[in-house]
Amino acid sequence: MQVALLVCVCVASVAALLPSLAPTITINPLVSTIKMSSTVQIFGKVKELQAAGEKVTSLCVGEPDFPPPKAVLKATVDAVNSGQTTYTAVQGTMALRTAISKDLHRRKDTQYDPNTEILVSNGAKQSMYQAVLALCGPGDEVLIPSPYWPSYPEMVALAGATPVIVPTKLEEGFLLQPDVLETHITDRTKCLILCNPSNPSGAVHPESLLRKLGGVLEGSPNVAVIADEIYERLVYSECPLTPQAPQASQTHV
Ligand SMILES: Cc1ncc(COP(=O)(O)O)c(C=O)c1O
Repeated sequence: MQVALLVCVCVASVAALLPSLAPTITINPLVSTIKMSSTVQIFGKVKELQAAGEKVTSLCVGEPDFPPPKAVLKATVDAVNSGQTTYTAVQGTMALRTAISKDLHRRKDTQYDPNTEILVSNGAKQSMYQAVLALCGPGDEVLIPSPYWPSYPEMVALAGATPVIVPTKLEEGFLLQPDVLETHITDRTKCLILCNPSNPSGAVHPESLLRKLGGVLEGSPNVAVIADEIYERLVYSECPLTPQAPQASQTHV
């Protein structure tokens, strides 16, 4: 990490000092295939208008309009004040990974080894991108139920793989249907990205449906599931979120 940062800083300074060198530095061609996130574009506009004194109600980025719980803020301040400001283990501190493992066991009855199966990142976007990079490459297809969070296809394209959009219907509550999933699986399918509850539709796949989707995937054991459950604690209906399947740790990232 330190070395990578140092290299980046050096390249930037050399380019700044010797502008004639800059045109020879080329960018990975994959980058030019990536579309600008419309969410980020709109958010930029929101910030611009707010800075100009306008009152703006922002409905773009997935950010609550209330502060984090007091206990979280206090724990953060305490950690800083007690000197926890240096690098941790790259995969996250053992104390945190153990707490996550216990929490998952309590809420979902799953067993994940904090030593080998839990990795803490700087956010869901980083986790999702690294999972895609770790699993997918050129020639692979990645199933993405629509409507989808716009970053997914771009992450897949950056990995050199092909996003395959799987439609869902308004009349079916934008829920992924097992038969539709099945018809989109090919020999090249590497994984399914399942965002549950879904951004942007808000659809919550109930446990019974997830088990049916799992049934379809049992017929394709080479297809992994990358589950993005970032919104799992923001469910306001009676639909309880899934205890995961017992074998989930073998197939879920
Ligand atoms: C479905 C989904 N996954 C991941 C993210 C990004 O999460 P983070 O801010 O933790 O990187 C978002 C943010 O909008 C999201 O909607």
